[in-house]
Amino acid sequence: MNFSGKCAIVTGAARGIGYAAARLLAEDGARVLLVDLNAEGLETARQGIPGARVFACDVADEDAVNRAVQYAVEKCGKVDILINNAGIYRCDVGLFETSSSAAWKKKIDVNILGTMYFTRAVLDGMLSRSYGRIVNLSSVAGIYGIVKMTDYSMTKAAVLGFTKALAKEVTGRGVTVNAVSPGSIDDDPARMPNHSFMGRAGSFEECARVIRFLASDEASYVSGQNYVVDGCRKLM
Ligand SMILES: NC(=O)c1ccc[n+]([C@@H]2O[C@H](COP(=O)([O-])OP(=O)(O)OC[C@H]3O[C@@H](n4cnc5c(N)ncnc54)[C@H](O)[C@@H]3O)[C@@H](O)[C@H]2O)c1
Repeated sequence: MNFSGKCAIVTGAARGIGYAAARLLAEDGARVLLVDLNAEGLETARQGIPGARVFACDVADEDAVNRAVQYAVEKCGKVDILINNAGIYRCDVGLFETSSSAAWKKKIDVNILGTMYFTRAVLDGMLSRSYGRIVNLSSVAGIYGIVKMTDYSMTKAAVLGFTKALAKEVTGRGVTVNAVSPGSIDDDPARMPNHSFMGRAGSFEECARVIRFLASDEASYVSGQNYVVDGCRKLM
């Protein structure tokens, strides 16, 4: 795909799906800004993506998010593509009846508000230039609900609602807003064989390829959609 002349921000890009998405966009010509909480991981990621810039920040910190977008605009002149990928799901896994509001709030701050802060910060520029591609990482958890991940499931359902409503608001103004909902994605495909009819986990790159499509001009007539990348899931 051709991303030459395009400027992209990918959050949560120090590793995993975010890193793979940033790498694919850069390989296809985009100038990318990698954002992550993990400054050390960002540095390693930068070494893997020639020409990438990095900005260390917490997506749950609105002022820091605004600074990250300002930095992207200073360096690239605009933001064409935003991949809202940063998210937390491994922490505080357990039954809702034993959960704490502190744990819910952490996930709400990162998974929901982080996505909204970044989107709000780039949207005016995208609308003024009549061009934008926003891709939000949701999850199969937001569709089916996953046991012992009630708070996470809620945040990812919220991301879907946000995606669909915003897509309608901005439609016809050059900006598309879509979601990608991964199932079980891992760097070891042999893991979680029972989660899908494909009998394996998806790779980071397999998920990133769908993100790249939605971030591209090829997806010009796609907005408000949720692309599920789950290898034909078995478990809900
Ligand atoms: N891997 C999967 O199986 C899977 C399944 C469903 C949904 N997802 C979603 O896809 C996205 C990426 O998943 P992944 O498996 O690559 O995650 P990961 O945990 O491997 O990587 C996430 C990255 O985000 C960064 N991050 C976390 N909190 C942050 C914050 N507050 N501010 C900035 N950066 C932050 C981390 O440092 C890390 O580099 C997440 O939104 C996740 O919920 C993943």
